[in-house]
Amino acid sequence: MRTRVGIIGAGPAGLLLSHLLHLEGIDSVVLEIRSRAHIEARIRAGVLEHGTAELLRQCGLGERMDREGLLHHGTILRFGGRSRRIDFTELTGKSVMVYGQHEVVRDLVARRLADGGDIRFEVGDVSIHDVNTDAPSISYTEGGVARTLECDIIAGCDGFHGICRPSLPPGFIRDFDRIYPFGWLGILAEVSPSSEELVYARHARGFALLSMRSPTIGRFYLQCPPDDDAGTWSDDRIWSELHTRLADQEGFTLTEGPIIQKGVTAMRSYVAEPMQAGRLFLVGDAAHIVPPTGAKGMNMAVGDVAVLARALERQIRHNDSALLESYSQTCLRRVWNVQRFSWWMTSMLHNFDGANAFDEQVRLAELDYVTTSRAAAVTLAENYVGLPLAV
Ligand code: APR
Ligand code: PHB
Repeated sequence: MRTRVGIIGAGPAGLLLSHLLHLEGIDSVVLEIRSRAHIEARIRAGVLEHGTAELLRQCGLGERMDREGLLHHGTILRFGGRSRRIDFTELTGKSVMVYGQHEVVRDLVARRLADGGDIRFEVGDVSIHDVNTDAPSISYTEGGVARTLECDIIAGCDGFHGICRPSLPPGFIRDFDRIYPFGWLGILAEVSPSSEELVYARHARGFALLSMRSPTIGRFYLQCPPDDDAGTWSDDRIWSELHTRLADQEGFTLTEGPIIQKGVTAMRSYVAEPMQAGRLFLVGDAAHIVPPTGAKGMNMAVGDVAVLARALERQIRHNDSALLESYSQTCLRRVWNVQRFSWWMTSMLHNFDGANAFDEQVRLAELDYVTTSRAAAVTLAENYVGLPLAV
């Protein structure tokens, strides 16, 4: 089998790339190891930057998002018992869209299949070959049968644990890494959110976040040890910890509801440089991950896809390779800005083992500054709603 662009991974990165290429008349095949049901049910992040939502609208994927998603014009920072609002719209003229990543994935899969797109689910033994030649290929198995996909370009959209990045020769990639000494326990609960906007809470017992998926489903997170077992967190313990950490002195009350899902995620910042090796382009989590405190993971993937789709269109339709050659450099500039923001939000809002009373006061002073100085609030807001896409 042959296609222009062989895409490995049907997460938001791979699916959106396939869709944008299709709109430019460029064919692709997406290879995914998991089932359609699995990727459509996988609960991940849920905040779309202004530019991400705009891009989805422009490429014809905004209809359900605009109907079911929740437009948020600000967020609450809670610390020292106080609640302070950052007004995105007033500070930047922009807003964010709360819409689950798996909903974006569902919309993309439906659209690709309706447009006759080729997505192969549940493939096995995926490996890449000859990326430093003009004729790269991907081998894989489908229903136990060995197959080869020949292509001009391979897009490695296979997430942090995929095979593309590790296939490169040792030493080719330079890794930049920071592992945080804590994780997040995330839960979904059948309860209408106790706040109209997200609440990021700093507390002596650890960070807590109140988020949501819909007017009837709440999403919450609690800072916990990185290797904690979600099974050791009873529902009572979770609600008690959320009540304590989300409390303020201004009358906030948290409503409880049945918990329908729990899981622990480790927190890490990671960047691979460069994001290209010959005809292989790394996209999204395959090249970089961020701790979720800034709500940036999926938005960074979308940022890469926007750059790559445009670069491939220039190469394939106009025989102009300039944008493709600068893909890694273009993406990394934005990636490092987003890394900085995610690291900063994480540092400001979490408890670090070994931090002393001085460190604690400095963090509180930073939160106080960010919520009272207009200049500082604009800095937070313009990063949260998203820096411009680098296209
Ligand atoms: N072959 C084919 N597919 C693979 C392989 C493989 N060897 N390994 C992994 N995959 C698939 C995964 O099953 C997954 O569906 O690649 C896809 C990668 O998708 P994501 O992990 O969602 O990564 P990406 O599309 O870059 O989106 C980034 O995902 O992890 C979140 O927070 C992150 O929101 C961010 C977003
Ligand atoms: C979420 O709703 O899953 C979410 C929201 C904001 C974050 C991280 C996760 O910063």
